[in-house]
Amino acid sequence: MTHAQITGWGMYVPSTVITNDAFVKMGLDTSDDWITSRTGIEQRFLVGVDEATSDLAVKAGLQALAVAETHGSEVDLVVVATCTPDHVMPSTASIVQNRLGATGAGAMDVNAACAGFVYALNMAAGLIESGRAKTILVIGADELSIYLNWKDRNTCILFGDGAGAVLLKAGDEPGIMSSTMGSDGSGAGLLTIPGGGSRFRMSANGKKPAGQYLTMNGPQVFRWATQMMTGAAEQVIASSGLNSEEIDLFIPHQANMRIIESTAKRLGLAPDKVFANVDRYGNTSAASIPIALCEALDKGLIKVGDNVVLTSFGAGLSWAAVALRWSAEIPERLSPWVPFRQTFETRVAAVRSALRRQKRRVGTVIDETLHRDS
Ligand code: ACO
Repeated sequence: MTHAQITGWGMYVPSTVITNDAFVKMGLDTSDDWITSRTGIEQRFLVGVDEATSDLAVKAGLQALAVAETHGSEVDLVVVATCTPDHVMPSTASIVQNRLGATGAGAMDVNAACAGFVYALNMAAGLIESGRAKTILVIGADELSIYLNWKDRNTCILFGDGAGAVLLKAGDEPGIMSSTMGSDGSGAGLLTIPGGGSRFRMSANGKKPAGQYLTMNGPQVFRWATQMMTGAAEQVIASSGLNSEEIDLFIPHQANMRIIESTAKRLGLAPDKVFANVDRYGNTSAASIPIALCEALDKGLIKVGDNVVLTSFGAGLSWAAVALRWSAEIPERLSPWVPFRQTFETRVAAVRSALRRQKRRVGTVIDETLHRDS
């Protein structure tokens, strides 16, 4: 049987750091103490005005390709998990595919909010296991900060921006061992950005519709999340034929330290088996799991043969989990030439893209001229 193995990984966060104290300075009725004790978050990274989701995704994707020593042209499919795409259409994945020079790849976005990356990983693994694809770049990238109401202390303190990526390849050994996905749309209203779609439309004078901000019923999401994260993790652990003692590292969605601790306790996992970095990034939505995976690898917490469980939850309500056996050697460090080579390759991709646009324009002019003359 063909298995899907992670062979490359990468992450990127923007440069602006916002500490909890910054909210107090902004005049919000909150405190570092409240935020730290109720969420575990100490800081988060936020995008600048001209940084789109695809910009973050490309940087994480390039790193994943570099670790796997793979060129964009070898990729069969680019999947971007995001609920904050650059545009309603085209997909953010198409923009990323073009910029990475992934000329032979299909491209699509997956939206399952914070659970999006694990959903996308699961789908990509299925395509590889069935033989329909050999190399898939899966990216989780989100900029929820642009949908936050900075006067709403219930939500604005929770989220950060970022991107993380993995490159999946076909291999003989597992790999992704088991997975689950679920949704309970009866809770769709508990966590939502209602505007910008077909339900609440842009008004005739071009003003933004009501509902451009993220709203959330925190306590209800909290209660549901602890139950779902536990249930989903138990399911993939059992489907892999493992028990919780055999789990070497549990990487849960990084939304709230109390949710992470409560889930780990319900699963009976010792604290050193549970990875958390929510203190430094906040909730980066679809980017949270791949960013955590990259940091865990960077800290030497995962080695070949380890059993790793990823569990996520998000708006929808939706959830997903994956159990995998780690199979990739972790490179000591990348060749110093990698950034130069990748800069060159992305410039080539940009020139190719410009030439293609030009070719389409010229083709249209020729067609129109011939049509006029005939
Ligand atoms: N600073 C100070 N006080 C605050 C703040 C704040 N930032 N936020 C809320 N409070 C107040 C509330 O107004 C309330 O005051 P009141 O009692 O006078 O009414 C009090 O604190 C308690 O509020 P709760 O909402 O009950 O606080 P709770 O302990 O539940 O913590 C939190 C709130 C952190 C939002 C928690 O419910 C939570 O983490 N929920 C899960 C959220 C989550 O994970 N969302 C991401 C989903 S992933 C995705 O798809 C995007």
